[in-house]
Amino acid sequence: QIVYVNGEFVPAAEAKVSVFDRGFLMADAVYEVTSVVGGKLLAFDGHIERLQRSLSELEMASPVTMDELLQIHRDLIAKNNLEEGGIYLQVTRGAPDARDFAWPDPAEVPSGIVLFTFEKPLIDSAIMDAGIKVMSIADERWGRRDIKTTQLLYPSFAKMQAKKQGCQDAWLVEDGYVTEGTANNAYIVKDGVIITRELSTDILHGITRAAILRFAIEAQMKVEERLFTIEEAQNADEAFVTSATGFAQPVIEIDGAQIGTGVPGDISKRLREIYTEEMI
Ligand code: PDD
Repeated sequence: QIVYVNGEFVPAAEAKVSVFDRGFLMADAVYEVTSVVGGKLLAFDGHIERLQRSLSELEMASPVTMDELLQIHRDLIAKNNLEEGGIYLQVTRGAPDARDFAWPDPAEVPSGIVLFTFEKPLIDSAIMDAGIKVMSIADERWGRRDIKTTQLLYPSFAKMQAKKQGCQDAWLVEDGYVTEGTANNAYIVKDGVIITRELSTDILHGITRAAILRFAIEAQMKVEERLFTIEEAQNADEAFVTSATGFAQPVIEIDGAQIGTGVPGDISKRLREIYTEEMI
């Protein structure tokens, strides 16, 4: 496969990143994952806007313009003949000569950038028919989850705990309320109302979340943005999660309690259909 590293398209095996790269040493990097269906990017503008916001919140510069980024995405899709899957993009603060917690002057140390593609079935997925089981766990990530950084050790840890319990994912809980999934936004449905946590620094502002809520409102569904607990979720009629690489995925069990009738709910399924129709 062909990847993009700091200005060049090279075979993955030849790609090189410095050992001093702050992305590698300190998770001083931001990223985006954009899905691709039929060789086309989904919601690219949303991902680029969020990338710019992540960069500016951390006073990081992009080594390429946003127009160039679009072209790099398109070139990578073509070079890898990517039909369905996604593109991972990471901007790091670059590789200063010395390891120092204070970040370097961007005029002296240019940011680094890496992109690669991956194949993944997004439309037809067995897990959609079955739904996923989730486990709750304390949210012990840092407090700026609205910035999409590569500090992913805690979400990885949480997902491993979930897998050990026979679940596919974990829902993170802070001060008694669900924040989000390890790599997705979390929702419940009660009496026809779609409930999801409001946007703040506590959660990532999902690009799929924005689209799903817009489509739900257009389809005359009711949406409430508010906090909810695991207990409320366990007593909901339906639950689901959204992300670029999962679209809307039904959740059928939370901490061993069956949600609704234990099969993917109608609203979750309908939202997945609408999302697929509207986006592709
Ligand atoms: N994760 N919340 C978190 C913590 C996430 O990492 C993600 C995305 C989302 C959903 O955001 P979006 O709809 O923009 O994909 C919510 C990506 C897919 C990942 O880390 O692979």
